[in-house]
Amino acid sequence: MSGGPSEFSDLVASARVIVEELLEEGVERFDLRETAAEEHPERPTASPAHAHAEPKTPLPESGSRPAPPHKATSPPAPAPVSTPAPVSLPPADWGANPSLAEVEGVLGDCQRCALCQGRTQIVFGDGNPEADLLFVGEGPGQHEDLQGLPFVGKAGQLLTKMIESGLGIPRKSVYICNIVKCRPPNNRDPLPEEVAACRSFLDGQIAAVRPKVIVSLGRPAASLLLGRKVAISRERGRWQSYRGIPLMPTLHPAFVLRQYSEENRRAVWEDLKAAHAKAQAQPPAEGVAED
Ligand code: URA
Repeated sequence: MSGGPSEFSDLVASARVIVEELLEEGVERFDLRETAAEEHPERPTASPAHAHAEPKTPLPESGSRPAPPHKATSPPAPAPVSTPAPVSLPPADWGANPSLAEVEGVLGDCQRCALCQGRTQIVFGDGNPEADLLFVGEGPGQHEDLQGLPFVGKAGQLLTKMIESGLGIPRKSVYICNIVKCRPPNNRDPLPEEVAACRSFLDGQIAAVRPKVIVSLGRPAASLLLGRKVAISRERGRWQSYRGIPLMPTLHPAFVLRQYSEENRRAVWEDLKAAHAKAQAQPPAEGVAED
């Protein structure tokens, strides 16, 4: 290899991110020999027997987990709990510009999904109702559930630091919310039906705030807003749009804390800077498109 030690550690960090994403996506094994054969057809494959080996485990449908090979004959695994499946956009029935109070009022003491059973309180959102930047995370954790505010635990502290020390703007000048408003038990990923039950409230918040730029934090938020599975480490930093509003997908701060590499920190920093610069350059929002 021609690169120096820092290039090598960058490569290791990137490989880690990709493996972590594959694990999060439910992939538990992959056949390196097949991959090698696809990428380097000139190399001999392992053995002829391999050609008749069991078929490659299909990639999971959204959120599902292939059964591990040694359990091939056992009953199907229990219901998946990983990625919320991208759901189709429900009609935006909030009108052009509802208020946050109106959206929160309709949410009420929500019992629309099972998450209500384990919550201490609903974590609706926090910040400036007229913010230029709106952040969307996944769902409240323990600290958020106790305090009733989004992003106040360790990941939240990192996000707050990046907003305040990095961008140089107070946290209260932006708006922060989540895909689901109640804490999933043991911080598991929200289930598709939980995401679907809460979806319209996120849309209501976006319609109320009318931000100039949305920043999605992590794969679930980007996947939900874009309506497809997003490979966040590959797609972060690339402008998208949600209902006519520029959308910047970036890494989740909890992921950055787990993979505390220079590369990941720099990536989020670049994305936030780009989002902030675009918001400053945008004319005031007109209203949120219906679809
Ligand atoms: N992680 C999230 O996605 N949201 C929070 O509010 C806190 C942690």
